[in-house]
Amino acid sequence: MKDIIVAPSVLAADFGNLQQDIEMINDSEANWFHIDIMDGMFVPNISFGMPVLEAIQKHAKKTLDVHLMIQDPDRYIKNFVDLGAKIITVHYEACSHLHRTIQLIHSYGIKAGVALNPHTNVELLKNIIADIDLVCLMSVNPGFGGQSFIENTYEKIRDLKEMSKQINPKLFIEIDGGVSTKNAKKLYNAGANVLVAGSFVFGAENPKEAIVGLKQAVV
Ligand code: DX5
Ligand code: ZN
Repeated sequence: MKDIIVAPSVLAADFGNLQQDIEMINDSEANWFHIDIMDGMFVPNISFGMPVLEAIQKHAKKTLDVHLMIQDPDRYIKNFVDLGAKIITVHYEACSHLHRTIQLIHSYGIKAGVALNPHTNVELLKNIIADIDLVCLMSVNPGFGGQSFIENTYEKIRDLKEMSKQINPKLFIEIDGGVSTKNAKKLYNAGANVLVAGSFVFGAENPKEAIVGLKQAVV
């Protein structure tokens, strides 16, 4: 199987049966747990916070990939590290001192990522790309699951891939929003190597098969 990471987004899980959904991901071909934290300020929605992440961490046996859709995330980096985050991604648009934020995340010995909203040009990462482990390209406007994929994302992936080849070839290029077996191959071919999927996985009749489907789609 090709070198593709699948990260189901827990936002689309059944919160009344969270442990069951966590175990499903543990037992599946998925690689990471994608955890969406929203503050109702940076994005027009509030998802869940520390107590829920604590509950997830208790059962999760795979990498916790934490996507912070919050203003001034520096305030909470340590909390998320203590809750088991192995990757913390902050938004370019939410950080006035992005380099400092990245240094702070790395100071805890975990991976640091930067997410870009659909309107944000990848060129803006040129002076930070050498210092980060992951770029998350939002392929929907952040805040909600279940939205339609924005087609312009492919061009952004290609531009980012070019930049990463030259400056940081180990960079994870993660796509978040509207990912399914319909676009997985095209995303992979454009240069993406991490696919986040919420509604496609948890809305499927058989979520484990949906995860395998994403992996097979890129072959
Ligand atoms: C959106 C979140 C996504 C979301 C993806 O703001 O960052 O991770 O859960 O959900 P789907 O796959 O349903 O678009
Ligand atoms: Zn996300």
